[in-house]
Amino acid sequence: MTTLKTMTRREALRNMGLLAAGSFMLTNGFLSSCTQRTDKKRLVFYFTASGNSLYVAKHLSEKPISIPQVLQGDQLEFEADEIGLVFPDYQGKAPSIVQEFAQKVKLKAKYMFSVITYGLDNCLVTELWAEYAKQYNWEFNYINVVLMQDVYLPMFDQDQQRTLYDQKDEEGQIAKVVEDINSRREWIYEISPEAHQRGEMIMNMVSRNPIYPARSEQLLRIDEDLCIGCGTCLNVCPKKCFSYGNRGLTNNGECAYCLACANNCPQKAIKLVNREANPNARYRHPKITLPEIVRSNIQHS
Ligand SMILES: Cc1cc2nc3c(=O)[nH]c(=O)nc-3n(C[C@H](O)[C@H](O)[C@H](O)COP(=O)(O)O)c2cc1C
Ligand code: SF4
Ligand code: SF4
Repeated sequence: MTTLKTMTRREALRNMGLLAAGSFMLTNGFLSSCTQRTDKKRLVFYFTASGNSLYVAKHLSEKPISIPQVLQGDQLEFEADEIGLVFPDYQGKAPSIVQEFAQKVKLKAKYMFSVITYGLDNCLVTELWAEYAKQYNWEFNYINVVLMQDVYLPMFDQDQQRTLYDQKDEEGQIAKVVEDINSRREWIYEISPEAHQRGEMIMNMVSRNPIYPARSEQLLRIDEDLCIGCGTCLNVCPKKCFSYGNRGLTNNGECAYCLACANNCPQKAIKLVNREANPNARYRHPKITLPEIVRSNIQHS
């Protein structure tokens, strides 16, 4: 009896996940990512896990281009009048996926900009990003930051974070960034001497405890009592860390520590292995939908 019940559950998990992945690819993902490359004047590339950076990118382009989708395709050279990148700050650095994009993709534009979303303290991210990008001959005319909800689950309770929304004035910050970029402002976010000192201290701490590369199985666990086998985690993970096998849903791969899986699981079934601020509170930007996150991050093979 127990075996039959377990088998049925495994079957259901496998079938539902594959169906979900397939239908998202056909209806939302692959086709639309191909058609995104028609905007010649301004191209905006983005990476997002919980929607903040996509929300900003959508203010800068009608068809922002997903970095994980570009990395799966053949086109690795882009030229336009203006090229921008929008992505989150991960401990003062660009996410590993954005770093990979910088290593592989050639960009040519008269005006280059970056907008980095963050949740509490942007440390030295603008400076470190400008330096990092220079190695790949990317010289930015404009780099700015936008303070949004902090999705770093180890430290921040997402329900409590929501209460700070009004204080952060997300819309006001975005409007300013859009105005700057539309007028081709030349400016790199200035780090005050105090912020610099604090940033150096934090970056020293971070380099002793780097968050990536990480293994997903060391970072995350699936609560099987909560999981309904919907396949969302498979579809939003930009590193393909989830799969269905004989043992049901498994989580095992080189992880970007983006927390897209945990934040988008409808059951809140993905928990951090180590302490987290509130295992029952999760976040996706209120104006970004789950299919948009899937389209951004789904892996096709
Ligand atoms: C692994 C990780 C590290 C983060 N590190 C920082 C940080 O050092 N400083 C900060 O202000 N926000 C940090 N954040 C918060 C994100 O930068 C912020 O919530 C961002 O807007 C999320 O963007 P997204 O919704 O597009 O994924 C971190 C988030 C994650 C997942
Ligand atoms: S862990 Fe969450 S997202 Fe993944 S299959 Fe289970 S319920 Fe769906
Ligand atoms: S396993 Fe989760 S945290 Fe790791 S890359 Fe995939 S979605 Fe991001």
